[in-house]
Amino acid sequence: MWLNRDIVSIGDLSVEEIMEVLDRANKMLPYASTGHPRKPLADKIVATLFYEPSTRTRLSFESAAMRLGARVLSLGSLEESSVAKGETLSDTIRIINSYSDAIVLRHPSEGAARLASEYADVPVINAGDGAGQHPTQTLLDMFTIWKELGQINGKSIGFVGDLKYGRTVHSLSKALSLFDVSLYFISPEELKIPKHIKRDIEKRIPVKETKNLDEIIESLDVLYVTRIQKERFPDIEEYKKVAGVYVIRPSLLSRGRKNLIVMHPLPRVDEIPAEIDNLPQAKYFKQASNGIPVRMAILDMILGSE
Ligand code: NCD
Repeated sequence: MWLNRDIVSIGDLSVEEIMEVLDRANKMLPYASTGHPRKPLADKIVATLFYEPSTRTRLSFESAAMRLGARVLSLGSLEESSVAKGETLSDTIRIINSYSDAIVLRHPSEGAARLASEYADVPVINAGDGAGQHPTQTLLDMFTIWKELGQINGKSIGFVGDLKYGRTVHSLSKALSLFDVSLYFISPEELKIPKHIKRDIEKRIPVKETKNLDEIIESLDVLYVTRIQKERFPDIEEYKKVAGVYVIRPSLLSRGRKNLIVMHPLPRVDEIPAEIDNLPQAKYFKQASNGIPVRMAILDMILGSE
């Protein structure tokens, strides 16, 4: 049942449901640049509330909603809203609940989307809760792997960078562990994947942890690169110690498998230099554009009439 469903954690979705979203996203692809001819969400209003910076996630949700015929309400900048007066998240959610048919929320606190879903009758979509989860990014990441490599099962995926604070890694690795894949976690000691996530994944599939990307590049089908999440470090000195620790070079990729793809949720800082952009392995811009059909699929499934 998709109608009016909250999308808070990727863990709430089964393999079958994940594949259902990917399949629906594939059907939305022809309309991703032109708009859906039937405008199935013509009478709906989608609200976007972003308490943290965003370019892709907010704009692709808004674009996806509009492509389906919905109208969009955006909280806009926090300084110009009552958040600046100290309004609590639960009060804001109670109000937006009566102004819209779905709420897309990004917030710096882990668990914020779950809390919001308890105060809202309309569906809440988690667009990132602190270092917690980012389930719709996961669905577009999985869509990208599926489209580029033909399937998810049988693949080896390596995550590199900030695996401690990177919520896209937390969500995606969890979802991938439902499939028949091998995962590699490549990070400095300070930025290792949280133990509880690793333990959970290891129950189902093989996992390898290393600091050394050179050592395992030949084993990968997907290299998922992430930004060091500067804003989540309690101490900026700790950030400085690990800033710039991995930089992807063409020489590294040339040692990889023939069909290796490089992904990144973006924004990038210095971990992928521009010289990689024109290599056949670079799929991160394609990945970002996949945000439209995937978010169209999600909105249509939870707000549409079918
Ligand atoms: C990511 C995020 O916000 O978690 N960005 C995104 O949504 N595409 C990754 C990041 O900020 O590094």
